[in-house]
Amino acid sequence: MTQNIYDDPDFFEGYSQLQRSIDGLAGAAEWPSMRAMLPELHGLDIVDLGCGFGWFCRWAREHGASGILGLDVSDNMLARAQAETEGEGIRYAKADLENLQLPAAAFDLVYSSLAFHYIRNFAGLLATIHQALKPGGRLIFSIEHPIYMAPRRPDWLVDAEGYKTWPLDSYQMEGPRVTNWLAEGVVKQHRTMGTTLNLLIGSGFRIMHVEEWTPTDEDLAMYPDRVIERERPMFLLISTLKPSY
Ligand SMILES: C[S@@+](CC[C@H](N)C(=O)[O-])C[C@H]1O[C@@H](n2cnc3c(N)ncnc32)[C@H](O)[C@@H]1O
Repeated sequence: MTQNIYDDPDFFEGYSQLQRSIDGLAGAAEWPSMRAMLPELHGLDIVDLGCGFGWFCRWAREHGASGILGLDVSDNMLARAQAETEGEGIRYAKADLENLQLPAAAFDLVYSSLAFHYIRNFAGLLATIHQALKPGGRLIFSIEHPIYMAPRRPDWLVDAEGYKTWPLDSYQMEGPRVTNWLAEGVVKQHRTMGTTLNLLIGSGFRIMHVEEWTPTDEDLAMYPDRVIERERPMFLLISTLKPSY
């Protein structure tokens, strides 16, 4: 059963305080890299899977997308997305990515930021996305990097100040990882890099770009505390194409 942790009041309260929840895309360290992977959006039909507060949906509309659908399982996230979106061109709806249904050949771009690592049935989701893309369409997404997520023994991997540390353990053991990030018992799904890439290939996607996000020198000059992201990747960004043949 889907956990829907963003509807947990404590989790939602904590998530709402994060920089990315206050400043939107400008507060998301990996956004410049995500943006660089995007095609020209003018006239495109887009679906944002796990749209959260709708930051990307509104950005896509500003950049000329013609129709944007934002889907999320959380009522909390959708309510704020709706409240912060005025005007036409964006539709939000509740949907669980574990059993998503989308119309065939309906979208030019399927976008997702930091949602797929919650999904158990990633193979099923990829099949749904593939059939929903028009030929030549793109799937561009980010997830928490599997190296960052891998710890299974929190007691062993917590430093003196109580922060989760690394090196990782049990990387090859795929499946649920339970963390106490913002609330007790948050469940994410660990897959190795190989599994993620092979599922994409096996689902018919052509992989265009893979990025294990790290801060630039300019980032570090502005945000010195991001230096830890040079030690291990926190985000994995992947751009794919549905070939037109
Ligand atoms: C880290 S937030 C990212 C939100 C937004 N994409 C962003 O980058 O600002 C993850 C989002 O994925 C959604 N999510 C998690 N599991 C989901 C599921 N099974 N179906 C639909 N949405 C899900 C959460 O409700 C949450 O809004």
